[in-house]
Amino acid sequence: MTDPLDRAMHHARAWLDGLDTAPVGGRATADALRDALGGPLPETGADASEIIDALAAGAGPGLHANAGGRFFAWVMAGSLPSAVAADWLVSAWDQNSGMFTVAPSTTIIEEITGGWLKDLFGLPPECSFAFTTGCQLAHVTALAVARHAVLEQAGWDFGRDGLYGAPPIRFLTSANRHNTLDAAVRYLGMGEAHMESVATGEFGNMLAKDLAEKLSGLARPTILCLNAADLNVGTFDDFATLIPIAKAAGAWVHVDGAFGLFARTSPAYRALTEGVDLADSWATDGHKWLNVPMIVAWPLCATRRLTVRRLPRARPICRPARMCGIRQTGTLNCRAVRVRFRSMRRCGNLVAPVSRTWWSAAAGIVCRWWAASVPCREPAL
Ligand SMILES: Cc1ncc(COP(=O)(O)O)c(C=O)c1O
Repeated sequence: MTDPLDRAMHHARAWLDGLDTAPVGGRATADALRDALGGPLPETGADASEIIDALAAGAGPGLHANAGGRFFAWVMAGSLPSAVAADWLVSAWDQNSGMFTVAPSTTIIEEITGGWLKDLFGLPPECSFAFTTGCQLAHVTALAVARHAVLEQAGWDFGRDGLYGAPPIRFLTSANRHNTLDAAVRYLGMGEAHMESVATGEFGNMLAKDLAEKLSGLARPTILCLNAADLNVGTFDDFATLIPIAKAAGAWVHVDGAFGLFARTSPAYRALTEGVDLADSWATDGHKWLNVPMIVAWPLCATRRLTVRRLPRARPICRPARMCGIRQTGTLNCRAVRVRFRSMRRCGNLVAPVSRTWWSAAAGIVCRWWAASVPCREPAL
């Protein structure tokens, strides 16, 4: 009997080795995949290695070769071997990284990786961070904190009173927003009816004049969402101008940096993100540019104090790690949204070969390619 882990390794290697020659798109129909992978729930068990072989054979025709260099659909990067290998360890170790007491090593890896990411993006070191499945849930997590903050500012205790009777929160954004923001607003009970688009200019960038007009008058709990490279036209909003306007009006500023936040890592293109560090929260993705396996992302919030106070866990189930000066992973990584130990993949990649130098060079190359295909606001690429 062969070991199922060896079989999995064999199939993984065969798949990765064939990426340069395999068809880029999966060709199997839904029915063919159902036939190959489904059938009635088996009454008896089967040999573990045979199951792995059957899984690989059945799924193969429906796999996209997005880890290869010839895949240009969606914003999905392929994984580097270091990240895939780290991911294997994640599954083998199978830690529950909810808190230090439960998973000492993985909690510390998460702490380290978050620190490196803040460094890579040039965000304030006191930012809190979390690991989520994708930018969608990174938005939800960061905006949950924003919701608490703006309601508290308006004298409303969300933790105690919830949304019943709360002052409506105005959500300002532009027509170029990604639809995951609309979903986040719905998930968080803030209501699409309270979303308003600020006017945009020639390249889809938000206009400061219209923002200032929308924020003038009676103060209301407000969240503003800006784009660090929107998906369709690649526009970066003018953070250095817009964020101070919003802050002066008491608004919370969130940035959708799903892939655009990575421009910060390139000395050549960092100027596009000037002032982005003034925001209150950011959401960005690992599986777009950092070459880690699907699906990883992270929300970051400007201060630790906010996240700790605003998203308390219901009741401590054992001594909080805070007592020994260790980051409490449970605070922002409420387990409903956090991903099992995803930091490990990034850790694998950030150490080797994706060092800061490697990343700066790679980001420069991709930005240049991307700039050739999309219009951009100043500074011109
Ligand atoms: C600008 C932007 N924001 C958010 C998302 C959502 O990311 P995810 O698919 O990781 O939830 C995307 C996905 O392409 C995006 O391009």
